[in-house]
Amino acid sequence: MNDHIKSLQEALQVSPDNVPLRIHLAEVLMREKRYAESAEQYSEVLHRSYGNTKAQLGLAEAYFYQHKYSAAIIIYEELYPNLPTDAMVFFVKSLIRENSLQQAVEVYQKVIALNPGFADEEIDGKLRVGNADAQSSDQDELNDNDEAGNHGSDFFLEKPTIDFSHVGGMKRIKDEISMKIIQPLKNPELYKAFGKKVGGGILLYGPPGCGKTYIAKATAGEIHAKFISIGLHDILDMWIGNSEKNLHAIFELARKNAPCVLFFDEVDAMGASRADLRQSAMRHVINQFLAEMDGVQSNNEGVLILAATNAPWSVDAAFRRPGRFDRVIFVEPPDEQAREEIITAMLKDKPVQNIDVRKLAKETPDYSGADVKAMIDIAIEDKLRDSMASGSLQPLGTKDLLKAAKQHRPTTLEWFASARNYALYANESGLYDDILKFLKIKK
Ligand SMILES: Nc1ncnc2c1ncn2[C@@H]1O[C@H](COP(=O)(O)OP(=O)(O)O)[C@@H](O)[C@H]1O
Ligand SMILES: [Mg+2]
Repeated sequence: MNDHIKSLQEALQVSPDNVPLRIHLAEVLMREKRYAESAEQYSEVLHRSYGNTKAQLGLAEAYFYQHKYSAAIIIYEELYPNLPTDAMVFFVKSLIRENSLQQAVEVYQKVIALNPGFADEEIDGKLRVGNADAQSSDQDELNDNDEAGNHGSDFFLEKPTIDFSHVGGMKRIKDEISMKIIQPLKNPELYKAFGKKVGGGILLYGPPGCGKTYIAKATAGEIHAKFISIGLHDILDMWIGNSEKNLHAIFELARKNAPCVLFFDEVDAMGASRADLRQSAMRHVINQFLAEMDGVQSNNEGVLILAATNAPWSVDAAFRRPGRFDRVIFVEPPDEQAREEIITAMLKDKPVQNIDVRKLAKETPDYSGADVKAMIDIAIEDKLRDSMASGSLQPLGTKDLLKAAKQHRPTTLEWFASARNYALYANESGLYDDILKFLKIKK
């Protein structure tokens, strides 16, 4: 084998621009577990033929085996979602090792969607929690049509590592979450003494990318609770009738793992298609949801319920009755001060030099948290390209970020264009007054 490698190396000395040959050498080195050398060859290919996907994937894999997970992630993110399955699996594993569990779950769900029945011991051990429900055996027969390894009844249980300190701005929302659901959990006696009813949930709404999902997760981290996130996909599954029981199983799982934050993301999916023919099936899911939430059969103590939506006007009004989502909170885009906090937090572990955070915050009006992240990603990609070309690591500077900001348009404006109409013309009992206030529109 060593001879083979040697002869390949010699051949490359003669024709250094032979890309297929170099890739072949890199592959052989990888197979021989000579990862650093393999990475070197792949980098060399990229140097000569920028954007060569094969080399990008190879390089990412070599990084993975060298435990350079964040470097691997940067490459995978650039190519995502156009990744072959094995690369996606490396991507998921890298994310797990970097503790980006939410993103890992998202990518893994994609793997499962594309390859029903896919299983991987390491990943499943970290991300999946089987529905270890005692009564599940009789249900299995009913669910036999669920070919996908019955993943419809697996939920993802996490233990978030972020807390409120990672969330920039959002002071008002942190306070509300604290008063309404964290304090009652910590001091149940006190709340009872004052005759305050414990229970119910908070519905967060606002433009995309402004931290709804993020703060829900941070809420769990704040009180060292577990976190279960139920997304659009899961709810649609129930809607289509795969698994009525699943909704019950989710609440049970949360109760069993109390204290636990149960988070329904994009909850609008539940009410969105009221005109749809399958309305009655959806109605059924909604009713079941409401029954679970009311805790008729079981006790929801220690289970904090949060939900988020970009389209609150699509959420069935029944959700907002007392004891349910009786607190509806507007999550607005970060103001300048909050953007400063977000930028600072996001650059914390990145190679940077003399960043003028205040200026960046000033130059990014209307940016959501996700927009800030996009700006940083663009700047990093540019730098990475430079660093690869020059062979040395170059830190990010203010100029790089400002340049990236020019290339990325804020994504919140479109949302306000339609929200404005709902706030003006469908503002039942002042539900959307916060939107009007934000837009400085007088009623
Ligand atoms: N206030 C914030 N502080 C820190 N990061 C934020 C904040 N808001 C958004 N982000 C970043 O933007 C990303 C997208 O936010 P997300 O919570 O998914 O938005 P939403 O659920 O409102 O659509 C988050 O993963 C996080 O990295
Ligand atoms: Mg979200």
